Amino acid sequence: MERARWASRTVFLLAAIGSAVGLGNVWRFPYLAGKYGGGAFLIPYLIALFVVGIPLLVLEFAVGQKMQKGAVGSFKKLHQAWGGLGVFALFSSFIIVCYYAVVMAWSLIYLWASFGVSWTQDSRGYFFDHVLQLSESVDTIGGINWSILVSLLVVWLLIYFCVWRGVKSVGKVVWLTVPLPVLLLAVLLVRAVTLPGFLAGWIFYLKPIWNALADSEVWIAAFSQIFFTLTLAFGVMVAYASHKDEHDDVAKDAYLTAFINSGISLFAGFVVFGVLGYMATSTSVRVADLAASGPGLAFVVFPEALSLMPWPSFFSAVFFLTLLTLGIDSAFSLVEAVNVTILDTTEHWKPQTLSLIICGLGFIGGIIFTTRAGLYFLDIVDHFVTNYNLIVVGILQTILAGWFYGAEKLLQYINQVSDWHIGRWWSLSIKWIVPLLLVGLIFNQLWVEIQTPYEGYPTWALMIGWLLLLVPCIVFIVLLFIPASTHT
Ligand code: PHE
Repeated sequence: MERARWASRTVFLLAAIGSAVGLGNVWRFPYLAGKYGGGAFLIPYLIALFVVGIPLLVLEFAVGQKMQKGAVGSFKKLHQAWGGLGVFALFSSFIIVCYYAVVMAWSLIYLWASFGVSWTQDSRGYFFDHVLQLSESVDTIGGINWSILVSLLVVWLLIYFCVWRGVKSVGKVVWLTVPLPVLLLAVLLVRAVTLPGFLAGWIFYLKPIWNALADSEVWIAAFSQIFFTLTLAFGVMVAYASHKDEHDDVAKDAYLTAFINSGISLFAGFVVFGVLGYMATSTSVRVADLAASGPGLAFVVFPEALSLMPWPSFFSAVFFLTLLTLGIDSAFSLVEAVNVTILDTTEHWKPQTLSLIICGLGFIGGIIFTTRAGLYFLDIVDHFVTNYNLIVVGILQTILAGWFYGAEKLLQYINQVSDWHIGRWWSLSIKWIVPLLLVGLIFNQLWVEIQTPYEGYPTWALMIGWLLLLVPCIVFIVLLFIPASTHT
């Protein structure tokens, strides 16, 4: 069967940017920046972007485009025994999309609630007690929270209708889902800079705190955020690039995607911290204290700040619609990536049926996060999958492409098709710098983790995180060795 193609280069770019730009930019990036002290986070973040993000994105685009297959097929073509790496990547990103859709479901609930600005009295209570109905600890699962479950179902239906006709429908939807949230963010930025106190927020956001850089935790957070935000090691970018023509440009598309994505994160930072600056001024709480609220930033502190503004309903609705439209093209990119990988190996399935099954499984996989203990599970799973799985897949990708296939060979291909030539620094970083740096980071993180279990959660709960790492590792290793005789 003829491989499906993007309608144009712009459509591919929109889709890749749509996958990259998501809740990672507006929910995750600002809360990490806030948690690690604003300016202190930006430096490791930018270093991670240049040292690891861009080289890896070039790699994924090149591999997908050259091999013309989804993650499993492309990695197999790099080396016949390495198909399992694609399974590893897709498994990890599938887990991510399961909780990602739940965060979208919260956003949908908030969008609905915006009309009454229901959280005005007590934004913390509204989020934790009313929306999440959070139990006191992860030990009390407390049954399913039906409103989140219903909202999750709606989110998955929306995702399904964006991908049901594969690359064709994705190519149409991205014309709306990529520019719209950026426009909405711009509306919010204009609002922020016309409020008193926004500068205090910006100073917190931009002012470096040098001694915070000595903490290894901020580095691992920055590197894993780069993986998350660029959709790296998800298997998605490989699949998306596989629908391009083999002779298309690689380098320019990778640079554009990376810069636009980080540009939008930085932009979102100005919006969020500008609004926090306003809130700090009107409530006399320090920006640093407001910003340190973790994953709740977008659902507790920010809505509260919105409720203090004139026209609270309007701006709240704009914000939550932004979150939803941002999230949707990331979520469907993953469905599409799994879809492509399966369709590479069989023609028995209709893409529509397959997408429906994947969306259904995503919904089922998300149920655990809709329980009263959902937020704890989300926190644990996010910690393990982003800080370990993505980084391990990243390391393995550089070993596979850099050493087994040959970074020089891949670079030659990239330079053959690209207008902007990439220097030898790229093969050096793929073979040495990226893997060594990531291995160092991950061992350091393991060392810290063993001494102090993550956030003091009970062992049984942390076991879920470890299993989510171990299972795909084992599958990968088994696939690497067992069928060795059957490959040739
Ligand atoms: N890059 C996305 C973001 O920053 C992350 C993502 C991609 C999540 C694909 C799920 C699926 O939001």
